[in-house]
Parts: sequence; C-alpha cells; structure tokens
Amino acid sequence: MASIAQKSLLAPPDIPNRRPKFRSERTLRFTESVIREMTRLAFQHKAVNLAQGFPDFPAPQILKDAAREAIAKDVNQYAITWGAKSFRDGIAAKYKRCYGLEFDPEREITVCCGSTEGMMASLMATTNAGDEIVIFEPHYENYGPDTLLSSAERKFVNLRPPDWRFDPAELRAAFSKNTKAIILCSPNNPTGRVFERKELEIIGELCQEFDCLAITDEIYEHITYDGAQHIPIMTLPGMRDRTVIVNSLSKTYAVTGWRVGWVLAAPDLSDSIRKVHDFLTVGAASPLQEAGALAMTLPDEYYTHLAVDYGARRDVMIGVLNGAGFHCYQTNGAYYIMADISGFGYPDDMEFARHLIEDVGVAAVPGSSFFENPEQGSQMIRFCYCKKYETLEAAKARLEKI
Ligand SMILES: Cc1ncc(COP(=O)(O)O)c(C=O)c1O
Repeated sequence: MASIAQKSLLAPPDIPNRRPKFRSERTLRFTESVIREMTRLAFQHKAVNLAQGFPDFPAPQILKDAAREAIAKDVNQYAITWGAKSFRDGIAAKYKRCYGLEFDPEREITVCCGSTEGMMASLMATTNAGDEIVIFEPHYENYGPDTLLSSAERKFVNLRPPDWRFDPAELRAAFSKNTKAIILCSPNNPTGRVFERKELEIIGELCQEFDCLAITDEIYEHITYDGAQHIPIMTLPGMRDRTVIVNSLSKTYAVTGWRVGWVLAAPDLSDSIRKVHDFLTVGAASPLQEAGALAMTLPDEYYTHLAVDYGARRDVMIGVLNGAGFHCYQTNGAYYIMADISGFGYPDDMEFARHLIEDVGVAAVPGSSFFENPEQGSQMIRFCYCKKYETLEAAKARLEKI
C-alpha cells in the first residue's frame, strides 16, 4: 500500500500501537501535518514562526465588527447546510464582478469549514476507489492525505525550479483513462507561482481530452505580484462544468481561524459535494458567514492594497533571506518563498530545519514535506512572510546567527 513517508521533526509520540484493529488502514497511510507541527515546535522553542501561513497582524476591523454584531443579533443557530443565503448571494456577486463567472447560489455554491473541508468534500464527492488524481509537486501538504482518504491514487508531476514550470509532456503522461481530476493550486503554495494562461490552456485541454475535472485551490487568488493575474481555469473554454473551485475567507481576509470556505461547481457536482459536506460538518459558523457576506462587498481597492502590501513584505523577506545566505527561488504570488539551502552544507532539510528552530530561533517548513519523494525537497525550505514587519525584523536578527 502506498503511504506518505514519515517526515516528523518531533520525537515519535509514545503511543503504543496495541490495538491495530481499531486504527483504520487509511489513517496509517499518512503522518500528521509537518506545517502545523512546526507551529507547535515554534511555540516550544519560542522561535519566530515563519512556518505556518497565518497572519500575525489583526483581521480587518469591519469584519470583526460584523461577526460580533451577528452574534449579538442572535445569528447563533445552524445556517442552511450549504451556507447562509446572504453569504452565497455575496459570493455569486463577487465572482460575477471579478471574473464574469455566474453561479446559481441555490445549486452551485456550498459554504464549508474552510477550503480544507472544501477540498476533502470535493474529492470524496467525485472519486471512487482506484481513480487517479494528478497533483503538481511540490504541493500543499493536504492534497496527499485528502486523496488517500478518498481512496484515490496519486500521480505526481513536477514543477521545476527556478521558475516552477511543468513539462507539458510529463503532464500528459500523467493522464490516463483512470484520471478523475487534476488538483491545481494557483497562486501556488509552496512555490509562490502564478500559472499563466497558456499553462492553464494545456491543463484545460487535457481535462477535456481525458474527460476529467480540475479541482482548483484558489485561496491566494488576490495575492499576486509583478503584473501576474490570477485566471480561474473555469473561465477557459470548455471548463465551466469541469472545474470545481475551492476557496475561503482565510487568506484574503486574514481570518484563518474562522474556518469559513466555499466550493463552486456545476449543479450535479455540487449536489454530491453538498451531501458529503452535510454529513461531515453540517455547516460553517453561522455568524461568521454573515461577516463573510460583508467581506464579499469590499471594494476593489481592498484587493489591490492586499497585493501591494504582501508584495512589499515579499521584497523585505527576500532581502532578509538573501542576506542570510539562502538562494530564493522566483515567486509572483501567494505569501511563501521556497529557498535553496545547499550553501549551508546540511545533509537534508530536516536537519537544517531543526538547526534553524533550535539554535537560530526561526521556524520554517522543510522542503521534503511538499514532495512525495522526500529526496526532491531535501535541499529546500519554505518561509512564509504573512507577518508584521517587526516579526520579519526579528527573523532577520536571528538569521544573522545562522
Ligand atoms: C493552498 C492552501 N489551501 C488551503 C489551505 C487551508 O485553507 P483554509 O484555512 O481555508 O482551510 C491553505 C493554508 O495554508 C493553503 O495554503
């Protein structure tokens, strides 16, 4: 049985496996998240946490007020399972405004507990045992366990540094009659790459030729730099009913702890996704969905400012990392930098990450956690920069000791 390699920095927990009968095989095929583990280690070592992608600055006041107000107005019971009407209507209006995409809020929008649930529910709703899912790597950690929990098989295709492009021939070779979907994350975590139209066209044509879906993680849609633009693959010819868009409030509105996301898909796909969602979680927090409805009405300037602001933090972070001896790979979106660590002479990324957290006091994510074959990421590390300038400064001061 294929499994995800053991990639833990913590000492193995002292949990005897006395009763294997009660541990499902599917849970034995992957480990806990290295990213979230790094946050726990950062606490333990009082390290500056540049590992997990959550802002350490306040969420927009207007959204916090809206959430408080909804609770005070007693929006405290279950929302409709697939999402509060105000929020679904708001999501539909925003996609029309931003991308010209039209969705029927009654049949094509499912609000869920973050894009994490959205991706899981989408995969569970669309795949059968033995179906194949194409995944670009390096990839966001969750896609591995998500596909394994859905009993699907994975086919990996490399994005290659320094510019993180794929080889179209390699991509084509990953598709087969068993392919059910490709997972696409753009702007990309961990590479910070924004896919271009011609790349999306290649992916879209393969989806049509092999009759499969694109399940897209668009959580960093508004965080792009250097003139790069996010293009939802759903807007390409032939892709409207073949794409499942997964997104959330987490990154765009700096509310990762709210756990509110959504899935957009044609009515037949949404019907299955809604069933999985209903029995997994019933629904996302109802007062926070009201704040989400307000978020959908924020003006274009909010998003322009978001991108400019993160672009400035990226430049600071690249300066800090270059100054400390890293080689930073290119990035034009999201809020991560993959850096090459080969100049430091460590045998692998795990040892280097341990040194960084224990001796230097900075937490980052070992590159191997983004690859099926850990070898491929063994000289890489990922830093996030969705942090206050003073946090980035603190990291700079510590990285001088590297
Ligand atoms: C690419 C990507 N998808 C999904 C998530 C999780 O998002 P959510 O908070 O909406 O569950 C993250 C969080 O870092 C991410 O980077």
